[in-house]
Amino acid sequence: MDNLILVNKTHSIDIDYVPLDLVACDKDLTARRRYGAYLRKEPCEMAMKLRDDAKKSNYDIYVSSGFRSGAEQQRVYARFRDQYIASLKERYPSIGMEKIIEKAEILTKLKVAKPGQSEHQTGLAMDIACFFNGNYDEDISNIEEVEWMHENAHKYGFILRYPKGSEEITGYRFEPWHYRYIGEEYATDFVKTGLTFEDYHSKILRLE
Ligand code: DAL
Ligand code: ZN
Repeated sequence: MDNLILVNKTHSIDIDYVPLDLVACDKDLTARRRYGAYLRKEPCEMAMKLRDDAKKSNYDIYVSSGFRSGAEQQRVYARFRDQYIASLKERYPSIGMEKIIEKAEILTKLKVAKPGQSEHQTGLAMDIACFFNGNYDEDISNIEEVEWMHENAHKYGFILRYPKGSEEITGYRFEPWHYRYIGEEYATDFVKTGLTFEDYHSKILRLE
């Protein structure tokens, strides 16, 4: 599987696929130390370099989630869906269960990929985190570590995969924490274009 593979709601991979060269990110890079995080060898090495360079500017970048198997993705999806069902039920007690589930599915799909449709299964994607709050989210997207990532991640081959305002194309809400490895050369070219990866991918395929 090459670094430029497109995985999204219309481009699936086999739910049993597991990359052969997964390696464990070193302990200092993983926020959830108990479980650790795995990436393919090349993105893992580059993520560790990125972490070391961020550290020189006094920024601590961690990986909260790397590779996720198809089964794990299914669990993540179910967890989010159940949480949405519970909170919708509480908020709208008079609405029937069928409608609640329908709405919960819509909301979940904007946040979590179905098994076989997540970049996490490629071993090329990582969710970054900050040690003080575990996970980045939109509310803290202007904190300095996130800005550092926006300015520097491409130098290590990573791109922000689900930027603000691109929901219609990517299918997902803004995810300031989700970075995808495509290699330094492409990532540096990619950031100059301002395209989504979906559009960039078609452009590259047209040119090559
Ligand atoms: N949150 C991203 C879209 C995923 O589940 O892969
Ligand atoms: Zn992610």
